[in-house]
Amino acid sequence: MSNRFKVAVVGATGAVGETMLSILAERKFPASEVIALASERSAGNKVDFGNHKLTIQDLATFDPTGVDFALFSAGGDISREYAPKFAAAGAIVIDNSSAFRMDADVPLVVSEVNPEALDSIPRGIVANPNCSTMQMVVALKPIHDAVGITRINVATYQSTSGAGRSGPEELGRQTAALLRFEDPNPTRFPVQIAYNLIPQIDSFTDNGYTKEEMKLVHETRKILGDASIQVNPTAVRVPVFFGHSEAVHLETRDKLTAAEARALLEKAPGIEVVDNPANGEWPTPVTHASGSDPVYVGRIREDISHPRGLSLWIVADNIRKGAALNAVQVAELLAAKRG
Ligand code: A2P
Repeated sequence: MSNRFKVAVVGATGAVGETMLSILAERKFPASEVIALASERSAGNKVDFGNHKLTIQDLATFDPTGVDFALFSAGGDISREYAPKFAAAGAIVIDNSSAFRMDADVPLVVSEVNPEALDSIPRGIVANPNCSTMQMVVALKPIHDAVGITRINVATYQSTSGAGRSGPEELGRQTAALLRFEDPNPTRFPVQIAYNLIPQIDSFTDNGYTKEEMKLVHETRKILGDASIQVNPTAVRVPVFFGHSEAVHLETRDKLTAAEARALLEKAPGIEVVDNPANGEWPTPVTHASGSDPVYVGRIREDISHPRGLSLWIVADNIRKGAALNAVQVAELLAAKRG
């Protein structure tokens, strides 16, 4: 088997697709060819791939024959239509949308957490988790392995880039408008996002939680392989450009001290602990996460309201580890298997 692979990026003009291309180049993915795909609107335009430019091709007319890995980030509808076609042509699809995440025959994989799920890919599709789930499970995995997590209370502080390229554009435009005393004129989010917080991401489900919140429930259980974990999420959009943050409160089966948790997290893959209250050191989306790879964990402390409770503050770049980086890491694991 060849050790150089033909790679397609679907949604190459989007916030995640563009970062997939830059991470493939940065990490020197063993590609023989990289193909940038988007809609007919973008076909013929150029996108960056390392020091080169790629000409965007129209997904609708592209022939996937010969593609080894296809990284999709163009929304659920596009994935539902085209991912099975790429898989039928022999590609492994790594899909960033929510289209297939909960399908029993589609592995949902975080590279540091459950790489063993890549042993079986019956439909030729691997799902990349939602950005909020991704960073949370990277930090929770070592704790769950050590003492068992029974319940998770999480409030997210999700940046505008989670809504695609138009999210940060709206935040910037509204901020500038408000500073000129003009109307913020919301278009991408339901109300003004600049200088505001919005306690709804995606639509509501029948139980009063939003779809975004229920992703945290279902995806966490699937990735950690434990359907008994109770999860109580609140997902909030905040006026941050890049980087999601989460205040996470855990209840564990056995007691874990803050010092023990810190020691576990310090040696876990993909995590950087930034936790020095005496010096005022904790991670933030701007100072730590934005543009960098690790999942940052700080504010590690024992919950004063529960004998086996632990509180954490988890921050990561939602476009990198939360989406594009993990997709590339999954492709790297699969490429290594094929040798
Ligand atoms: P395009 O720029 O041609 O519309 P984001 O989530 O950051 O807004 O990005 C969405 C991505 O999905 C973009 O690359 C966009 O390409 C792509 N996309 C949207 N609709 C289609 C389509 N019908 N076919 C292929 N790609 C699409």
